[in-house]
Amino acid sequence: METRIFENKIEDLKVAAELIQKGETVVFPTETVYGLGANALDSLAVKKIFEAKGRPSDNPLIVHIADFEDAEKFAKEISPKAKLLAEKFCPGPLTMIFKKKECIPNEVSAGLDTVGIRIPKDETARTFLKECGVPVAAPSANISGKPSPTSFSHVFCDMNGKVSGIIKGEDSEVGVESTVLDMTADIPTILRPGGVSREELKEILGEVLISSELKKDDIPKAPGMKYKHYSPKGQVYILKGENEKRAEFIKRRSCVTSVAVVAFDEMVNADFGDAKVLSIGSEKVAEDAAHRLFDILRECDDLGVKEIYAPEIPDDGLWRAVKNRLYKAAAARIINAETAKSVLFVCTGNTCRSPMAEGIFNISHKNAVSASAGLFAGGGKASENAIRAAAELGVDIKSHNSRQLTPRMLENSDIILAMTESHKMSIPAEYNARTISEFVGVDGEIIDPYGGDIEVYRKCAGELKELIEKMDL
Ligand code: TXA
Ligand code: MG
Repeated sequence: METRIFENKIEDLKVAAELIQKGETVVFPTETVYGLGANALDSLAVKKIFEAKGRPSDNPLIVHIADFEDAEKFAKEISPKAKLLAEKFCPGPLTMIFKKKECIPNEVSAGLDTVGIRIPKDETARTFLKECGVPVAAPSANISGKPSPTSFSHVFCDMNGKVSGIIKGEDSEVGVESTVLDMTADIPTILRPGGVSREELKEILGEVLISSELKKDDIPKAPGMKYKHYSPKGQVYILKGENEKRAEFIKRRSCVTSVAVVAFDEMVNADFGDAKVLSIGSEKVAEDAAHRLFDILRECDDLGVKEIYAPEIPDDGLWRAVKNRLYKAAAARIINAETAKSVLFVCTGNTCRSPMAEGIFNISHKNAVSASAGLFAGGGKASENAIRAAAELGVDIKSHNSRQLTPRMLENSDIILAMTESHKMSIPAEYNARTISEFVGVDGEIIDPYGGDIEVYRKCAGELKELIEKMDL
């Protein structure tokens, strides 16, 4: 599909709006993140959004309009409290969930009987929505699972060729998505923290609940919140502990594998070794962290790093939204710099056994990290059958690159695990290398599957999994 790029001027916005009226998709800037829009009243147009994003169809879309006065055309039971909120926060980074009217198709509400309404504040978005003259359903304009786009270049990277048009605006000012507030509950409930904080809502509403604080058996009411999200290709870890210990941990990891660190300005000059340092602003300014977060997560992909270490984030005000996004990107991997162990798996070429071991370990152990290397590594990706056998265990090693074992890696790892006695004997005794079997107290070796068929690899991956799960750190 050819994607037209529109400048931020009225003639262009009119043409972009015509595309929406014709049932096409157009990406537009908002103050939170860029949105991927289509006519909310046109089921076929809305389906194109799900296709472009690769989004699961059980995840409802927010409906964007230019003026809150129009909300009652699409939503029912708009309470006086909701009107008070609208006076303060519409336009702005707030989405309110109401009972929906018939005109909102099922594709938008994903089968729910409710609809989310938002009035963006961004001037370009408002002019565009006015020109559209129809409500515009729009999720964030990223490929499903990736960080939301906060700049034209993010959008272009994800959506060029997949949508009819992209409006080129400024970088998103807020940088995290809107707060999703369920106004159908007895007490208004935050389903997703965002650009308007709980504290700000409380000033008007008195009581405001947060759905994550409700009992676990409550069904997640914002379906989107149950998916893994905002994820760069490398693994994000929230690294707890004293600053000095954190820096030391990251520095050691940077001697073993490729690492980025997301750091507050107060910490950027610490000695992180070879880790790439990405500043998230001052620890005193939540607005800066929100503004930069998604760009930083995308930059980690450009750097191609394997591990990304981020700090703990406070719970109050706008920090809550930053924390929610970052912890989701980490898929709840929180480790402690003072106690977490680093494990190094070693095999011959670092294309079969040790990358599978690394991947399996990283999804099996909570307060630990691992890397892998080869005694005679010749570079290149993991072997095809290793990638497949690992994938069958839920482990993705597609982006692994084989690496030569160095003394530096050995010096900076806590536990060194070889596949066979012969590997172990090749590592200088001072590093106390052991075979995986020896470490868990059983006999045997992990035999090289190299050149074997998928069955041979499956068996090898199965053996590794069994041993790794028995590892007591
Ligand atoms: O800031 C934003 O909200 C951006 C911009 C483009 O407006 N949009 C956005 O949309 O983030 P999306 O689809 O990426 O996230 C919307 C979230 C999802 O978690 C979805 O499940 C939830 O809002 N949501 C939408 N409609 C809902 C409804 N009727 N009931 C419950 N949750 C809903
Ligand atoms: Mg989204």
